[in-house]
Amino acid sequence: MTTEATWTTDNAGIPVASDEHSMTQGPGGGTLLQDHYVIEKMAQFNRERVPERVVHAKGGGAFGTFEVTGDVSRYTRAALFQPGTTTRMLARFSTVAGEQGTPDTWRDPRGFALKFYTTEGNYDLVGNNTPVFFVKDAMKFQDFIRSQKRLPDTGLRSNDMQWDFWTLSPESAHQVVVLMGDRGVPRTWRHMNGYGSHTFQWMNADGEAFWVKYHLKTDQGSEFLEQDEADRVAGASPDHHRQDLFASIAEGDFPSWTMYVQVIPLAEAEGYRHNIFDVTKTVSQKDYPLVEVGRMTLDTNPENFHAQIEQAAFDVSSMVPGVGPSPDKMLMGRMFSYADAHRYRIGTNYTQLPVNAPQAPLGTYAKEGSMAYRWNDPRTPVYQPSSYAGPQADPQRSGETPGWEAGGRTARSAYVDHAADDDWSQPGTLVRDVMDDDARTRLVTNVSGHLLNGVTDPVLERAFEYWRNIDKETGDRIEEAVREQKPASAPTTSASPTAPGDEAAKR
Ligand code: HEM
Repeated sequence: MTTEATWTTDNAGIPVASDEHSMTQGPGGGTLLQDHYVIEKMAQFNRERVPERVVHAKGGGAFGTFEVTGDVSRYTRAALFQPGTTTRMLARFSTVAGEQGTPDTWRDPRGFALKFYTTEGNYDLVGNNTPVFFVKDAMKFQDFIRSQKRLPDTGLRSNDMQWDFWTLSPESAHQVVVLMGDRGVPRTWRHMNGYGSHTFQWMNADGEAFWVKYHLKTDQGSEFLEQDEADRVAGASPDHHRQDLFASIAEGDFPSWTMYVQVIPLAEAEGYRHNIFDVTKTVSQKDYPLVEVGRMTLDTNPENFHAQIEQAAFDVSSMVPGVGPSPDKMLMGRMFSYADAHRYRIGTNYTQLPVNAPQAPLGTYAKEGSMAYRWNDPRTPVYQPSSYAGPQADPQRSGETPGWEAGGRTARSAYVDHAADDDWSQPGTLVRDVMDDDARTRLVTNVSGHLLNGVTDPVLERAFEYWRNIDKETGDRIEEAVREQKPASAPTTSASPTAPGDEAAKR
């Protein structure tokens, strides 16, 4: 959208008398309330921001195209995944814990949120650059995030809180290994993979269902920054990743990713060696190899960051026909959380904003509310069932996935009913078998450096044990590195809120 007039107007389109001088009672007098334009300018300015995202506040993104290159039609009927289809899309990348303005190269997982404007409505795949997560139950997400954010008194971040939470939540080990390893600081957003992380359900045109896990492999190659370089860039160029993406697209160097899925027959989930709905675990690619789906290419920068990126609303529950959820308790929580967050952060009618609006035919009965500016033809009834013409639910079109069998008594369980549901094996394999010697040494350096920054003694002891549970040798090396570098008289600090002016202020 652009301005049409070459003269300044107020928001009502009325020409204004001055861009610079407010109206006063005489040249030296007070400003007059009747200068509605200066009042409009001040009031509008006070409302220029929407609240930042409660997590993933710092990010950037671009538009592009998803082009199907494989043939997964035997697994899903979703229109966007049918051979020969191309779909316009939006991607937003982000850090998790940092606020708006925090450096892009702080160690953190990266958000990898995708919105596909498909012919069957918007499909949002809201993943990260890692295939696993720190916790496996939506009940723990808020606590986890608080431990990553800031202390209530000092407003400072605290490594003590982070390790306290992680060491008391052993299911975090897999994601913590990824975070503290090379993938914790990607060189740029273009140089990292993306993952749907959860297991999802696909359904084909015959109604047959499969479990799937999404992988988006960067075509630029996976590259990272070492801690020293990341720290330097954080100071010199805090918006490094945002800037890199924008510049590369502006220069015509369009980044791309190839999408694959692992396909797991429904019947095999039950007998698999670990629970495939536990988001702290990966499913072996030896058992279920990657199947190519297509390529996403980002080719268009936003014209307006606020309207197209800041107000972009990715919703985990936006799944198109042929795609459905799984009984992953994190995914279930997320199916509620995102639209709820958008209604608060952007407003009830956030889906009417151009960046969020579907590019498929709309047959919604939603009406009115704050800032509503779309409405149905007045002949369309406002209720269903109705004997007047209006959109009717069409189960054929919606093609809900078959879901899953479940039963038994109400329960609060922790995914521990398979032989390999333990928390330590997969992170241990990652350290021993996937990392090489150099990567393991960088891991030890990253972890010990992090632990040396304000972590209290009892939490430190638990952290050493945590790492020994992952891998004995790595745990020993981390302890040795910390003990070598930790001054004997290093002050220990308390993690509980204390009175101003005492130890808490030093954290
Ligand atoms: C953003 C909740 C787990 C990836 C958000 C936001 C909320 C949220 C409220 C802010 C939304 C906004 O204001 O626009 C949750 C809850 C979780 C959870 C309750 C667990 C129960 C995860 C997991 C992943 C993830 C497991 C990745 C696999 C993201 C991404 C964004 C985000 C990428 C940023 C989306 C964007 O770019 O706008 N999450 N989250 N979250 N979350 Fe989660």
